[in-house]
Amino acid sequence: PGSDARAGEHGVPTVIAHRGASAYAPENTLASIDKAAELGFSWVENDVQRTRDGELVVLHDDSLQRTTNVEDVFPGRAPWKVRDFTAAEIARLDAGSWYSPAYAGARVPTLKQYMRRVERNHEKLLLEIKNPELYPGIEQQTLKLLGNEGWLSGGHLRRLIVQSFSADSMRTVHELKPAVTTAYLGKPSVAQLHQFAGFTDLINPSYGSLSRGYVSTVHAFDGPHGRPLGVFAWTVDDAATARRAAGYGVDGVISNKPDVVRAALGSD
Ligand code: G3P
Ligand code: CA
Repeated sequence: PGSDARAGEHGVPTVIAHRGASAYAPENTLASIDKAAELGFSWVENDVQRTRDGELVVLHDDSLQRTTNVEDVFPGRAPWKVRDFTAAEIARLDAGSWYSPAYAGARVPTLKQYMRRVERNHEKLLLEIKNPELYPGIEQQTLKLLGNEGWLSGGHLRRLIVQSFSADSMRTVHELKPAVTTAYLGKPSVAQLHQFAGFTDLINPSYGSLSRGYVSTVHAFDGPHGRPLGVFAWTVDDAATARRAAGYGVDGVISNKPDVVRAALGSD
């Protein structure tokens, strides 16, 4: 891929802070990417969805229930789906207290706010389009915002990967902006790899489904930018698993505890 994350070049997998450094600060908040930067990590992962009034926001679950105080603020509105709330309503929620009182007042960031903090922190972003089937047109909308924020040209393109569990979504991103590095989340069959290699640069499977043989199989395909497909494994939070993943030859490891993985692998 065109991105900086082709870590195999250094022989040690790139470590990506999953939902920010989410073992140490509330996931998908500005605090969690600040924490990743503080720990010295440049790559962060996040999840993007859309509000009822069309704003892109950063949140993992399709409901606000687990990671905000939405039940207290809007008690009558179960099951508290992101797509049923306006951006102004979501901006009122506390996205930090569930994690720790020390983070009371943390907010669900809009994607725009988030991109500006990524920029300020000099970070690189593995952006996941989450549940794209719920949000028609989210690929185009996300690319538009990224373009407006200056992320679709020059050096910024090397600091960006867009990923999804939906192959269709990644095909759409590739067709709309071929220069963007994309990743498919999952473990495609060889037959699927023949197709997916036309529009994804990386294959990102869960660690539990991986083997050395599978990583070699993926590496044997060239992606849409004429380079071997990369492999990032998720979610790896302990030293022994990190070493096994590295032994399989993965190019990246996505972790809630990136410092633990770095210590195990000797990555920078
Ligand atoms: O980046 C990989 C990982 O984030 C995919 O799973 O559920 O944490 O979005 P999930
Ligand atoms: Ca994710």
